[in-house]
Amino acid sequence: MLHHVESGTGRPVVLLHAFPMDSALWAAQRRALGAEGYRVITPDLPGFGGSAPSPTSPSVDVMADAVVELLDHLGIEQAVVGGLSMGGYVTMALLRRHPDRLSAIVLADTKASADTPEAAATREAVAAAVEAAGTAAGIADGMLPNLLGATTRESRPEVVATVRRWIGAQPAAGVAWAQRGMAARPDSLADIAAFGRPVLVVFGAEDTISPAADALVMADAARSGGSSTTVVEIPAAGHLTAVEDPQAVTDALRTWLAGL
Ligand code: MLT
Repeated sequence: MLHHVESGTGRPVVLLHAFPMDSALWAAQRRALGAEGYRVITPDLPGFGGSAPSPTSPSVDVMADAVVELLDHLGIEQAVVGGLSMGGYVTMALLRRHPDRLSAIVLADTKASADTPEAAATREAVAAAVEAAGTAAGIADGMLPNLLGATTRESRPEVVATVRRWIGAQPAAGVAWAQRGMAARPDSLADIAAFGRPVLVVFGAEDTISPAADALVMADAARSGGSSTTVVEIPAAGHLTAVEDPQAVTDALRTWLAGL
């Protein structure tokens, strides 16, 4: 069973974290919305935070199935599910495998496309390096300029330090497993188009990993399939919008959830 933290009572909202971090990524939104009539559940995906690594082959599908196992355990038939970056890939795997469990989805700082062969090879190199080192701490410095927007890196050293600490705390085996799982993920645009229920797309204006173009492609696919689709740009934030501007992301979620 996935380790998870939850706050509040009411409509269930599940928020899935990015790579290579854990559910702490969504702590601000969990606390805020949990105090406002939602049951906000933030799992640690397999191999991250307090969740055991998966013994199976690396796959975002395995992560999605673990989320459904958690929903079953919590007695939740249907939830709003949102994911940031890797959490978005897992949300797309849920769209493919368990669409009936989703009443609406949030795709934050993520993309529908599969990896290019070059990107997959880079992931394998990172996975091997993390395994060899026995820790993820060594990859933090290389990742931070991509994960955090220029504004955050220049003006919010405490956020930079927090994210560095989060990365360094993740078990090497989980980080390597997830890299390989993400490398194997398929293109998910058709799954987004097939959903047909409400979709919120969030992106940071300074995101270079999943820039605006990726967000707009997902939003177009959702609209083409008849989803009520909302797009929110978070100014002065990079890839990790939920920690770079927690208030803006909470506000975006609150406004959208209220309209469901
Ligand atoms: C993430 O933030 O989860 C990662 O950037 C996702 C990825 O490596 O594609």
